[in-house]
Amino acid sequence: MAPTSAQPLTLAVDIGGSGVKVMILDPAGNPLSERDRLDTPAPATPDSVLRAIRQLAQDKSFDRVSVGFPGVVRQGTCYTAANLDSGWLGFNLGKALSEALGKPVRVINDADMQGYGAIEGQGVELMMTLGTGTGFALFINGILVPNLELGHHPFRKGETYEQQLGRAALDDIGKKRWNERLQKAIATLSHAFNYDRLYLGGGNAKKIEITLPENVTIVPNVNGLLGGIALWKD
Ligand code: BGC
Repeated sequence: MAPTSAQPLTLAVDIGGSGVKVMILDPAGNPLSERDRLDTPAPATPDSVLRAIRQLAQDKSFDRVSVGFPGVVRQGTCYTAANLDSGWLGFNLGKALSEALGKPVRVINDADMQGYGAIEGQGVELMMTLGTGTGFALFINGILVPNLELGHHPFRKGETYEQQLGRAALDDIGKKRWNERLQKAIATLSHAFNYDRLYLGGGNAKKIEITLPENVTIVPNVNGLLGGIALWKD
């Protein structure tokens, strides 16, 4: 879509285990900029990640900020952060980022934000993100069940979905076996949730080589940012 000067403009931020990504969205949620990215700093403390976001934001103009965070988030505060520094636990990211950028900020779980960018809003829709961690988001007729955190639930062989399908597992077992595991996960999820549609996203979705059932769709990683508009739909 052609750039517009309509406001408000939203800075969408996706904090990932390997990259911090941002994009400007117009009031309808269409991208107004290319995706911009910095490597996630190591260690990924609140301070270092906030610095990266400030750096990515400095040459952009926007009126409000939406953030997808890879952990449980309630009212701007982070309660888990499996793949980041433990300094996030209890950290009010919404407040800190709002003070740093001087704009209103809303924060939700990263898979929840990605799901908003993918769903059609009808029936039971499940989002699964395949990245450093393994994220899940559940929607019923477009209504989010927040902070699902299925990634840390048992999947097979005494391991969780994240242990079996996260980035460390992919690096460890290679693409072929990872794909076989993914196929088993899809079968399990399909029986547990009886979803109308399952979306697969995240940076490692491009590694998928199996033939997917008709009700399973791969979505581009940029949806993680595009979902940011949904945080302001009230
Ligand atoms: C976190 C989730 C997150 C997922 C993907 C998991 O380790 O617990 O909150 O959605 O990684 O980033």
